[in-house]
Amino acid sequence: MFKSGAVVRKFEVNGEKVILRYPKMSDAKNLMRHINSLIDERARIILTKKVTLEEEKKYLKGIIDKSKKGLSIDLIAEVNGEFAGKFDVFRERNPPSAIDHIAKFGLGLKRKYRNMGIGTEILKVLIEIAKKEFKAEIIELGIIADNDRAVHVYKDKMGFREVGRIPNGYKRDGKYLDRVIMIKNI
Ligand SMILES: CC(C)(COP(=O)(O)OP(=O)(O)OC[C@H]1O[C@@H](n2cnc3c(N)ncnc32)[C@H](O)[C@@H]1OP(=O)(O)O)[C@@H](O)C(=O)NCCC(=O)NCCS
Repeated sequence: MFKSGAVVRKFEVNGEKVILRYPKMSDAKNLMRHINSLIDERARIILTKKVTLEEEKKYLKGIIDKSKKGLSIDLIAEVNGEFAGKFDVFRERNPPSAIDHIAKFGLGLKRKYRNMGIGTEILKVLIEIAKKEFKAEIIELGIIADNDRAVHVYKDKMGFREVGRIPNGYKRDGKYLDRVIMIKNI
């Protein structure tokens, strides 16, 4: 059940203390910096345009409202007490629908916390949450084909399998890349 700022899970990864908690309005500045730095580093995410603090506040209010209604679960990660990223579990449509058993994920860890095993552990928690809260049976992800680290994490470490590909499904600055669809039955 959503409660602003409440801790959902606490664990350690190689000595790093990780907390996953619900967002609160005071996260807006960190979230804005985070998304803008992902855009700056050209991370393979869908957003391409930087956001303002006002836009981020509006977005945050929206996700808090959706979380309160149980339509999505958005989580802030902290590592050793510092903002480290944002993660979400959601359904494509509001229930009831014929695709209520499919959950989707969004993952974004700050650069300095990558390659430490943290993303993989968070993914495991997201799968548990999807099962418990959404009664999900399938997780579906869309990954940009050249995101080698994410592909390695999903496919090799977490057992997702590629079920399709949208040729040229990602277009940024006139350059096309394939969008790979992966699923995991859970
Ligand atoms: C994708 C993401 C969530 C993974 O989390 P993470 O904490 O970095 O992942 P982990 O440390 O658990 O695992 C990373 C693995 O990728 C490997 N790796 C790192 N760079 C790689 C590369 N260029 N090619 C292939 N594998 C790579 C690491 O060696 C490690 O594998 P190993 O444990 O077998 O050695 C995180 O990197 C991230 O948020 N990236 C930016 C945003 C993004 O791409 N989101 C996903 C969109 S679908």
